[in-house]
Amino acid sequence: MEAIVLKEFGGPEVLRIFEVPLPECGPDDIVIRVRAAGVNRADLLERQGLYPPPPPRPEYQIPGLECAGEVVKTGSRVVRFREGDRVMALVSGGGYAQYVACPEDFAMPIPPGLSDIEAAAIPEAFLTAYDALFDKAQLAMGQSVLIHAGAGGVGSAAIQLAHVAGLHVVTTVGTEEKRQRVLALGAEVAVNYHDEVFEDVVRSWSNGQGVDAILDFVGQQYLTANMASLKTTGTIVVIGTLSGTDASIHLGQLLGRRLTVRGTALRSRPKYEKMRLIQTFQERTHAFFASGRLGAIIDRTFPLAQAAEAHRYLVTNQTIGKVILTVD
Ligand SMILES: NC(=O)c1ccc[n+]([C@@H]2O[C@H](COP(=O)([O-])OP(=O)(O)OC[C@H]3O[C@@H](n4cnc5c(N)ncnc54)[C@H](OP(=O)(O)O)[C@@H]3O)[C@@H](O)[C@H]2O)c1
Repeated sequence: MEAIVLKEFGGPEVLRIFEVPLPECGPDDIVIRVRAAGVNRADLLERQGLYPPPPPRPEYQIPGLECAGEVVKTGSRVVRFREGDRVMALVSGGGYAQYVACPEDFAMPIPPGLSDIEAAAIPEAFLTAYDALFDKAQLAMGQSVLIHAGAGGVGSAAIQLAHVAGLHVVTTVGTEEKRQRVLALGAEVAVNYHDEVFEDVVRSWSNGQGVDAILDFVGQQYLTANMASLKTTGTIVVIGTLSGTDASIHLGQLLGRRLTVRGTALRSRPKYEKMRLIQTFQERTHAFFASGRLGAIIDRTFPLAQAAEAHRYLVTNQTIGKVILTVD
């Protein structure tokens, strides 16, 4: 099969197609004929040698954390899928290829009405957002959340999930076009941080109380303002560190207002945790996708052979929703 194999690390030009053997199918695995694969910021780090796949080290290092396509083979212990089923899957690598194998528990049926391209945009972004909102921050109907980078892949998923769960959403974005899009997704307030200071907006919007939780992808640059934007007993979930990783924290505020700062990462988690998350997510969201109340937001697609272009495009910060690779 054809796949993007990382034979060296570096700039986007190292993303080249090679002919490699088909993936092996273990007893608990399915093999998916990939039609579309999501591009994620983590892939950019992996390409640079900064984000290795979890052990065991694969013989061919193929990036790609999520994909959608058709089941072409099932292992002897597989019970949930049959050949021909359309699935979307969270994979711990290997998505940038014509075929990928993964445990059946990491795959979900594609909700009716969704294309393969749309389905490939769901696993990484929506599972991360779902887990941050409802597991890490423990949010419930009527509570409030500040979602940074609201037009990003994860941010746009989080806004939709929060909206259908009856949460009040304030979000930040970098352009007016993004501001309009995130308002249409269900945010009540959208702050263009070039024009307004988000902590001021959050303070007045929440009548000086602050929000119950913050989903943060920015890290270093936002930590102090995030702390100031939280309600007493509020939680910051650190999902990304786009502006840097080193920040200092005012421990007096942390203990005085009983705040929580917690981190999350999807790829490195034990299998049973991912299985549980995928199962709960599927049960709770499948009908919302089928009815169109939740949707995949696709910015642009590139053929697999143009993965380098896709990586160059993602770092421009122009994207709204997801960038997807299509696979013939
Ligand atoms: N922990 C996990 O398991 C997990 C899972 C998935 C993703 N992530 C991480 O979460 C982050 C977002 O992922 P994504 O897929 O949503 O990315 P994305 O679609 O590329 O969106 C990222 C957006 O963040 C904003 N941004 C970039 N640099 C910024 C900076 N220095 N300060 C403020 N805003 C900045 C930009 O939007 P504006 O122009 O609107 O500011 C950019 O478009 C990434 O760091 C990714 O690695 C973590």
